[in-house]
Amino acid sequence: MQKIKIGILTLSDRASNGVYEDKSGMAIKEILNEWIVNEIEYFYEIIPDEFDLIKQNLTKFCDEFDCDLIVTTGGTGPALRDVTPEATEVVCDKMMPGFGELMRLESLKYVPTAILSRQTAGIRNKSFIINLPGNPKAIRECLEPVFPAIPYCIDLIGGRYIKTDETKMKTFRPKHAIKLDE
Ligand code: MTE
Repeated sequence: MQKIKIGILTLSDRASNGVYEDKSGMAIKEILNEWIVNEIEYFYEIIPDEFDLIKQNLTKFCDEFDCDLIVTTGGTGPALRDVTPEATEVVCDKMMPGFGELMRLESLKYVPTAILSRQTAGIRNKSFIINLPGNPKAIRECLEPVFPAIPYCIDLIGGRYIKTDETKMKTFRPKHAIKLDE
């Protein structure tokens, strides 16, 4: 089984200044460790909500670190400094709007303010980037409904083959795409 590479990028003015700890970034790692059975090399950054910094870090995770998956948290709302979706769009070759649509729809089961998130997803070369809101609780609420489609999406763009523990996270691949020996 291949070792995979995952980037976690936390966007928060306050957490990056040490005002509070980055619970959301930690939650992403915990949940992915729970679901994915491949060995994972993580890359992590916590930065303020600055468009250029977000762009630089996303580009670094994709082009230098060759991440298969990049998960961002924070900066998806309507406030002036919330610019994560814009920075994501500018680095991506192709957007995958279905991920944001489904995450918002599922999030409405938990919070009426789910529609305030402009979270999206997209592809840069062989890396898949997905935005999550900044609330630690939102991490599982958003990742759970969309994760079943992520490993196959990464197969399709030429990323590494991701396997999950099916008792915890059941993913979907068409029959011809399932590699039994991985
Ligand atoms: N989605 C889920 N699942 N859970 C949440 O708590 N918070 C909402 C929304 N989506 C939330 C959520 C709120 S209150 C806001 S303002 C937006 O995400 C944007 O959050 P962000 O700016 O921290 O990214």
